[in-house]
Amino acid sequence: MRVLLTGGSGFIGSHIALLLLERGIDVVILDSFTNSSPNVINRINTYLDNKYLKYKLEIINGDIRDKKTLDKIFFDSIKAHKSIDIVIHLAGLKSVSESVVNPLLYWDVNVLGTLNLLLSMKEYECFSLVFSSSATIYGLSDLVPMAEDHNISPINPYGKTKVAIESMFYDLCNSNINLWKICSLRYFNPVGAHPSGLIGEDPIGIPNNLFPFLTQVAIGRQKTLKIFGDDWDTEDGSGIRDYIHIIDLAEGHLASIDYLNSIDSCLEFINLGSGKGYSVFQIINQFESSTGCQIPFSIESRRDGDVAKCYADISKAKTLLGWSPKRSLEEICLDGWNWQMKNPNGYS
Ligand SMILES: NC(=O)c1ccc[n+]([C@@H]2O[C@H](COP(=O)([O-])OP(=O)(O)OC[C@H]3O[C@@H](n4cnc5c(N)ncnc54)[C@H](O)[C@@H]3O)[C@@H](O)[C@H]2O)c1
Repeated sequence: MRVLLTGGSGFIGSHIALLLLERGIDVVILDSFTNSSPNVINRINTYLDNKYLKYKLEIINGDIRDKKTLDKIFFDSIKAHKSIDIVIHLAGLKSVSESVVNPLLYWDVNVLGTLNLLLSMKEYECFSLVFSSSATIYGLSDLVPMAEDHNISPINPYGKTKVAIESMFYDLCNSNINLWKICSLRYFNPVGAHPSGLIGEDPIGIPNNLFPFLTQVAIGRQKTLKIFGDDWDTEDGSGIRDYIHIIDLAEGHLASIDYLNSIDSCLEFINLGSGKGYSVFQIINQFESSTGCQIPFSIESRRDGDVAKCYADISKAKTLLGWSPKRSLEEICLDGWNWQMKNPNGYS
């Protein structure tokens, strides 16, 4: 099998690439490296060399907005009798705050990029797709756990681009119900790192999310962890979120591929989360007890657009994909810390 993995050198994509290659699947990564380092590819190769694994990895440095690049990937693959069987599409921009400041960039990269990809797929008759959607589309609500039929009401341009893309999938699959196979995976908060410590999350600038911020405080790159509100309607007053180990999330993609290979056509929207909610204080306590690090923190006022609780109902993923998350919060902390210790400055 051969998979086109867009955004494959990013945080989530690099972990999926490793798992695919470990399984003996050929991988073509298309990435513009706008939010990732080419060193990621060296790390993937190092890991596979250390394991004496035979593998086939091809890297294309290109932009999903450039349809010619996409067409060439499909064309060259067919010409070499190695056609692309499935696309896993992760390339895109993901900062909520940046999307508020520069919405057109988000519509351009996320929506136009996906439209280009679908056009190329149609042209070259590749009809299987796994897409990275987001729990952000559920908007402001703390009706938990959130199932896939939860109200869709994104409150920022980033979330709106994901909804627009899911709408394209609806229309496309309606136009020919027997042709396309699409799983749109709605991620909650992927965290942690590969247990080897070779690949992990390396945000550019000050991290936006709790977990990379916390590990950077632990390593001394940031001074204090900011907690936005300790007066939420939760047991300890801090916000509750769903954190899923990055390897569990990556395994959800392999389960999706198996599912797509087992059926004739489909359009499925599927939550990928741990199905559990942890508060910020629980995360800090677990991290401190697992690693022995102390995390200084400050309490700040609530941020606009935050909610008290958000975690997934993952029954659909369990039933349909036969997948469930296996890794604990302790493993998340240990693997995340292992990555940060081995790479205090990320990939640079
Ligand atoms: N990380 C999360 O918390 C999270 C949650 C929900 C959904 N997602 C979605 O998952 C996907 C991957 O997220 P991630 O955390 O790995 O992000 P990431 O930024 O680490 O990876 C995205 C990759 O896409 C590449 N890219 C960006 N624009 C591109 C373009 N125009 N052409 C080609 N490549 C381009 C980047 O260089 C990067 O390597 C994104 O679509 C994101 O919206 C992420």
